Amino acid sequence: ALGLAAPASAQTFPSRPVTLIVPFAAGGPSDVIARLVGDHMGRTLGQQFVVENVAGAGGTAGAKRLLTAEADGYVLLIHHLALAAAPALYNNLGYDTQTAFAPVGLVNAGPMVIAGKLALPPVDAKSFFPFAKAQAEKLTIAHAGVGSNAHLCAVLMSQALGAKFAQVAYRGTGPAMNDLVAGQVDMLCDQSTTAVPQIQGDKIRAYAVTSTERLGVLPNTPTVRETGVDLEMTIWHGLYAPKGTPAPVLDRLNTALRAALKDPTVLDRFKSVGTNAFPETEWTREAHAKRFGAEIAKWAASLKAAGVNPQNVN
Ligand code: MLT
Repeated sequence: ALGLAAPASAQTFPSRPVTLIVPFAAGGPSDVIARLVGDHMGRTLGQQFVVENVAGAGGTAGAKRLLTAEADGYVLLIHHLALAAAPALYNNLGYDTQTAFAPVGLVNAGPMVIAGKLALPPVDAKSFFPFAKAQAEKLTIAHAGVGSNAHLCAVLMSQALGAKFAQVAYRGTGPAMNDLVAGQVDMLCDQSTTAVPQIQGDKIRAYAVTSTERLGVLPNTPTVRETGVDLEMTIWHGLYAPKGTPAPVLDRLNTALRAALKDPTVLDRFKSVGTNAFPETEWTREAHAKRFGAEIAKWAASLKAAGVNPQNVN
């Protein structure tokens, strides 16, 4: 019977604070989602979730940091589709993406917003895309490192327009957004999570959203497809523990995550920035594992089609 029982440590988990690694700079969309959901999970589990921003190399530095931790549930990683895209972008990750992580659960899914600094001449999507194509070489587009959502969006936009922009890498779209607001860079394709508040505050100009439908919170901003440009992108975040974390610990974490995704306060915050919780049918650890595997395959194929070759991490 002893061998079948969960270890005592799993039964009392968590008995001390949990570190939640965010693989990008503070103030960006991953950080915003992590703090919102982490705070809620901490309240549910009676232990604080402490965010640690480990930025670098498009989110792969944070992923590596997770894998140096004990597989006991006290160090977790929130990451987005870049974790699945990374093997198509980097040669020497130092871990096997397919097997290194224990998916805890899916968090949120939402679109990106293609935005420009207020001083950029085009005032709408219709004039923006021809302008961006014609002026490409002179225009800078910010992103959060190779493999970040902002980078992948820039790659897809370049591919759709047949235009090459000057890319500027940041440690997250938090600092990238600050520079867009200040007019230091021309363009940024960022998650709605952090783009919507800046658009509503008239700090940047929204050109188009990458979803199939317009966003309720940005009713006047067209989809990219509406403007005749072939680009669609949905980003998603998931929560991960290191492989080998005991199943009872993963289950407790999954239950706490579900409590956050059920809370109307959390859902209202999501909605106010144009992002969504996953449907309840996808709240299991298995659903997360399945999506993760599918996205690894999807990004390998689409980045190959876009002519993107893997590079070294450093
Ligand atoms: C961030 O939090 O900085 C992001 O999730 C960046 C990105 O992937 O575009």
